[in-house]
Amino acid sequence: MRHAVTILRTLLLGGLLAVPALSALADTPDANVLYNHHCAICHGVSRLGGIGPALLPDNLLRLKADEAISVIRDGRPATQMPAYRELLSEEEVAALAEWIFTPPEHEPRWEEADILASHELSHPYGSLPDAPVFEVEDLKNLFLVVEIGDHHVSLLDGDTFERITRFPSRYALHGGPKYSPDGRYVYFGSRDGWVTKYDIYNLAVTAEVRAGINMRNIAVSPMAATCWRATTCPTAWCCSMPATSS
Ligand code: HEC
Repeated sequence: MRHAVTILRTLLLGGLLAVPALSALADTPDANVLYNHHCAICHGVSRLGGIGPALLPDNLLRLKADEAISVIRDGRPATQMPAYRELLSEEEVAALAEWIFTPPEHEPRWEEADILASHELSHPYGSLPDAPVFEVEDLKNLFLVVEIGDHHVSLLDGDTFERITRFPSRYALHGGPKYSPDGRYVYFGSRDGWVTKYDIYNLAVTAEVRAGINMRNIAVSPMAATCWRATTCPTAWCCSMPATSS
């Protein structure tokens, strides 16, 4: 009998001790669940990006931890990034901000098939006029201003400093624009691995491809068959395609 009471006491004590531990667990926000519910629609199911940029540690090197908290809580004005202060508690915002800097359980991959599937060809080579659609004194004296903060590019007439056009770029361009040898095309690389080909004469994006998940720079070969080359992380990818066909 005495033995039974001891067991009962132990069980009760164990039960009592277990209660706070369980409730603490229940109070810890599950960032993965929150992400899938609130963020995946724009930032991608595997955090690879979509309407919003990729949210993986290698892609967030320039974002400070406290900035991440304020972006999630207050949103980014004049962008599609919403403010979550009404929807999420301080703890949930903090849990999400910490989680996006944590590498995912499975290393995300971006294979050749993904690269090819991402290729968008809005204007095939040769389908647009060969003369500029705008007038300038010297076609060789144009320059581009990359606006890092709001993800736009402006094309300026180098003689008059007048703006010829301004267009939206991919999120966070990296490494500076690269020109085709004749100066007609310009290539931009973005932090999230997008390579964009822009036809200066026609003021139009002609093709895009996502060459990787995270990219530092691109180079354009001066050879006759001009190439796009992208080095990306986490997997080092070299992706070359003739500029004439893409
Ligand atoms: C409706 C689309 C949308 C939703 C939903 C959304 N975001 Fe965003 N988010 C964006 C866009 C677009 C940007 C880029 C804003 C800019 O141009 O600076 C962004 C930017 C961010 C950034 C800054 C990234 C950087 O490199 O500076 C973080 C962090 C972020 N979002 C986290 C979240 C989290 C966490 C959620 C869910 C709680 C979320 N976002 C939901 C669209 C969205």
